[in-house]
Amino acid sequence: MAAAPLHIDIITIFPRMLDGILGESILKRAQEAGLVTIRCVNLRDFATGAHLTTDDRPYGGGPGMVMKPEPVFKAVDHLRRPESKVILMTPQGEPFKQATAQALAQAAHLIFICGHYEGVDERIRTALADMEISIGDYVLTNGVLAAAVVVDAVVRLLPGALGGEGAADDESFTTGLLEYPQYTRPPVYRGLGIPEILTSGNHAEIAKWRREQAIARTRARRPDLPPPSADAP
Ligand code: ADE
Repeated sequence: MAAAPLHIDIITIFPRMLDGILGESILKRAQEAGLVTIRCVNLRDFATGAHLTTDDRPYGGGPGMVMKPEPVFKAVDHLRRPESKVILMTPQGEPFKQATAQALAQAAHLIFICGHYEGVDERIRTALADMEISIGDYVLTNGVLAAAVVVDAVVRLLPGALGGEGAADDESFTTGLLEYPQYTRPPVYRGLGIPEILTSGNHAEIAKWRREQAIARTRARRPDLPPPSADAP
């Protein structure tokens, strides 16, 4: 039996920013195949007042504007189901990792709240969000690009999303190692050749070479990653 489709809601004041990302490539195909439904929810639809404002000046003064609680609470109230996981995108959140993507790919319903401007009212953080995610130690103009990154990493893990099943098992961060060097034709390009072992036809030796390369590359580039276990692929 096929797994129930994942449902994703992305709450943002810039829903059109997602059109291109969601309408291309694997994200597009996964939606067409019924593996996931993704809806962009315009926060302004839940705003009130003549100007439908979604932000306001901070109590206590200071620069910038703060995302108001009412439209966000109303949007989440409208969308939330018992199985929903509400995620606030913020540079203060837990660093996004492949393991987080794998956990979120098991969920039934994800609601992303994309923060804007200089911050969000703290009550959104404390009373609404089940988790807070940061995609890195830098500040984006708004959380919608960050949400798109998380959605992309999650959707490609859904069974059937990538052409060949298992393609996502053999890659960087799933194995705990960065990927080994890959080559394709031609065998010599601008005087640059390829490692002879790859055309030897000896699959055991190729697998051994790839693992050695992956280990060396991970040590050199990402000494912060934990060393792989001996039985890892
Ligand atoms: N919003 C702004 N910057 C962000 C980041 N680095 N991660 C998640 N959400 C954000």
